[in-house]
Amino acid sequence: MNRSKIAGIGFNVPDNIVTNHDLEEMMDTSDEWIQTRSGIKERRWVQAGMANSDMALPACIKAIEAAGITANDIDAIIVGTVTPDYNFPGIGPILQQKLEITKHIPAYDISAACSAFIYLLEMGDQFIQSGKYQNILLVGSDVMSCIIDKSPEGRATGVLFGDGAGAVVLQAATGESCILSTHLYADGKGMEHLNAKAPGSMFYPDRINADIIAERHHFPHQNGREVFKNAVTRMPESVDVAMKHNNWSLDDVTLVIAHQANYRILETCAKRMGISMDKMYINIQKYGNTTAATIPIAMCEALAEGKFSKGDNIILTAFGGGYTWASAAIRW
Ligand code: ACO
Repeated sequence: MNRSKIAGIGFNVPDNIVTNHDLEEMMDTSDEWIQTRSGIKERRWVQAGMANSDMALPACIKAIEAAGITANDIDAIIVGTVTPDYNFPGIGPILQQKLEITKHIPAYDISAACSAFIYLLEMGDQFIQSGKYQNILLVGSDVMSCIIDKSPEGRATGVLFGDGAGAVVLQAATGESCILSTHLYADGKGMEHLNAKAPGSMFYPDRINADIIAERHHFPHQNGREVFKNAVTRMPESVDVAMKHNNWSLDDVTLVIAHQANYRILETCAKRMGISMDKMYINIQKYGNTTAATIPIAMCEALAEGKFSKGDNIILTAFGGGYTWASAAIRW
């Protein structure tokens, strides 16, 4: 079997830091509330003129350089995002153009919210395993600051999110480093608890109009407690599946990189999995929840901090809108 490996990885976040104190006046919230409930101290928000593809581009360039290839060696681009530059096309083709890729490679987006990066990994891994492509660029990138409700009405959700992008190049594995397994799941019953409904064909014929906006259907809404309950059940479950699939015990795992939704979610997951917090990578305090980007950003930072290195086993896990959830086991 041709296994795949992550040959290069990169991330990018906007320079503009938005602290909890910055949100206090805007959303009638407090630094204390946000830190206690979520562990978030600050997040990055783009400023006017930076679309999702502009933010993602440096992450892609870093991943391509780290893989030791050029942009024209890329055979396919797949992006996970819920905040594309436009309704269509997706940012896959826009990144193809911004990377100055002259070949007519496939380039497209998928929508799997916070689980998107692991969904991408499974797709990329399958394409490499089948021999269809040699170099695949996978990008998790979201500009959540352009869809959240920044008024006091939206504070329970708005304070949690930030903007960021992460990218990896997947290639055929030649040595021990490889993606060992991926497991993806969904349960559409979760839609009612976590969604941003408009613009959408459900509102036919307009998709978006003044009434839809007045009803705030264009903002993300969540039933925070339901989301919390499901996240702390599904992520540990999916980690357990990954460990059983690979015949691993907790001692075999160097680091768990979970979707950075909320510190309390990560803490509860760690308790349920029976692992200490030093085996859970945490950077939510700096970036908030960057949706599709949390995992590749966390992987980059954990690697740079020496939290794992060549030969180590790591597990990724995510939970988000859909509901969707997933895990991946990787030998670095
Ligand atoms: N600032 C100040 N007060 C607030 C804020 C805020 N930003 N938001 C809500 N409140 C108030 C509420 O109005 C309420 O006040 P009341 O008691 O006077 O009515 C009080 O705080 C408690 O509100 P709850 O919603 O009950 O707060 P809870 O303790 O459930 O925490 C939270 C809310 C943080 C959203 C929690 O439910 C949670 O972490 N859920 C998971 C959500 C998540 O991570 N979503 C991300 C997307 S999905 C994913 O990535 C997995």
